[in-house]
Amino acid sequence: MDLQTAIRERRSCRKYLPDPLSRETIEELLEAGTWAPSPANNQPWEFMVVTNGEFKEKIFAEAEARKSILFEKSGWKWLNRYEVGFLKEVPVILAVIGDPKKTGADMFLKDGGQAYQHACAAAIQNILLTAHSLGLGSLWFTLFEKDAIREILGLEAEKDPVALICLGKPDGEPFQTPRKGVQEKTTYR
Ligand SMILES: Cc1cc2nc3c(=O)[nH]c(=O)nc-3n(C[C@H](O)[C@H](O)[C@H](O)COP(=O)(O)O)c2cc1C
Repeated sequence: MDLQTAIRERRSCRKYLPDPLSRETIEELLEAGTWAPSPANNQPWEFMVVTNGEFKEKIFAEAEARKSILFEKSGWKWLNRYEVGFLKEVPVILAVIGDPKKTGADMFLKDGGQAYQHACAAAIQNILLTAHSLGLGSLWFTLFEKDAIREILGLEAEKDPVALICLGKPDGEPFQTPRKGVQEKTTYR
């Protein structure tokens, strides 16, 4: 699949078939992640591949709890239709864990300290696009408190679970989301 097709066709998947992913496929996805750019090439990511049902159940419970609190705080009606049950069914949840110490030169800048997250985001996008090119569904998931995920996955306090990436064969067609035109988002000086 060519790059432009992958970029344009990839959509978030929230319904998965239970078929497991092979170790080879998982490593192909991680390999794509590691070719992302990072500050001074410090590669501030680590990956944890979660396939064990007990961990998935705990992640699901955390997401359910956050969803209720988010609904109370925001009143967003669409949350009633938003189910997080796919967290129990998806064959792989990939935790992308950032190291805040590896943030590069931006640690010396006034608004710095986040470049490690940006690098993790670049790695995540590589993984999502590669998943799509392999016919897999994926989802960038962040509806959790980081402390809760640290506790569930046994991460050190200094590590930042930037995102959980769901990966598996899609069950049905994903919801299609539109985009605004480039002109609406662009100025030239
Ligand atoms: C930083 C980030 C956090 C996200 N967190 C969630 C999430 O917690 N739950 C979810 O269902 N989707 C999440 N998404 C997916 C977005 O909802 C989705 O990308 C957006 O609606 C556009 O749809 P598309 O990915 O199908 O094009 C997240 C995406 C990003 C980039």
